[in-house]
This record gives sequence, C-alpha cells and structure tokens, in this order.
Amino acid sequence: MPVLEIYDVNQPVLRQRARKVGRVTSAEQRILDDMLETMRAANGIGLAAPQIGVSQRLIVVELDDVTYQLVNPELTDASDETDVVREGCLSLPNYYGPVERPVRVTVRASDRDGRKVRIKATGMLSRALQHEIDHLDGVLFFDPQRMRSLSDLRYEPPQPDGENADEPSDEQTAKRKSIPVVVSAA
Ligand code: NI
Repeated sequence: MPVLEIYDVNQPVLRQRARKVGRVTSAEQRILDDMLETMRAANGIGLAAPQIGVSQRLIVVELDDVTYQLVNPELTDASDETDVVREGCLSLPNYYGPVERPVRVTVRASDRDGRKVRIKATGMLSRALQHEIDHLDGVLFFDPQRMRSLSDLRYEPPQPDGENADEPSDEQTAKRKSIPVVVSAA
C-alpha cells in the first residue's frame, strides 16, 4: 500500500463536494487502504479522500487502536450540546484553532465490506468523524461556519522528535505567521 501525497487546502479538490460511492468494490477498498497508510505515515487520526485528490465520499479515522474505513458517511443525529476543542488538519500542517462542534453524533455509513454500519460517537471520535465528513462537503475547519475568527488560527512549529504534541508554550503560540490559505467568501 503506497503512502500518497496529501493535498493542501489550496487545491480545488478540497473545496468540491465529493461524489457518492455506488457499490464498494476492490477499487474503493484500495483507496481506503491507501488512505489509512497515508494517514498513519503523517501521524494523523483521520483523512478524507479529497485530501489525496480523490473526490469520493470515503473517510478513514483511527483512534485508540480502532480503525474506521467508511463509505458515504452521513451525520444522522447531533447533540445540542457542543464543545470547543483545538483542531488541526493534515492539509494545513502546523496550524491549529478552536472549533465548536456537537459533542455527540450518530453516523450512518457503509464499512470497507459494504455493510451498513451506525456509529454513536462522543469525544475525539465524534469530532474526528465530523471533521472528515466536512471534508467531503468541501468544508475546512477554519471556515467561518466552523471557527469563529480566522485570527484564532495559530501556527505551532512541529515538536522535536520524540516529543508529543503537547500544548505549546505561550512563546510558541505568540509566534503567529501569515496564513497561507485562500479563504473563500462563502
Ligand atoms: Ni482535515
């Protein structure tokens, strides 16, 4: 399984609404497997097909050693209760910002074998699924409907090898850089 290039947020495919998948065949399974490999190589917890240049409704999420490879995922329920958590995206490396989302969601999808699944998710899983489903609709975490203000987006330099991505020091947070993204007027 090859590790693929991850497209950055300036690529038009990241702004398209991805196509629904018909039947799950070996072609879709291969894309899902390549996505998983690519996500793991980048130390991510989720990836959507548009991020590898494929405009199809496919996502992968891996958290606490549980792997989800989902086809046509849909949010069917979301809690009124929301929380605000710092988010990032493999298509915008080293930038993070606070995003408000429902705490609990229900997702309906097909799995890698084409079987219908329903996932009731809370916490990081809920958040990761919402973030990846957003990608399928061309929505990015720093868009106005997700992040209150673009000025909340922070550049945080990568940690040295072996360090976990702990909260950065105030000094690091203060080192904001210009934002290399095209912001749509939507
Ligand atoms: Ni993302």
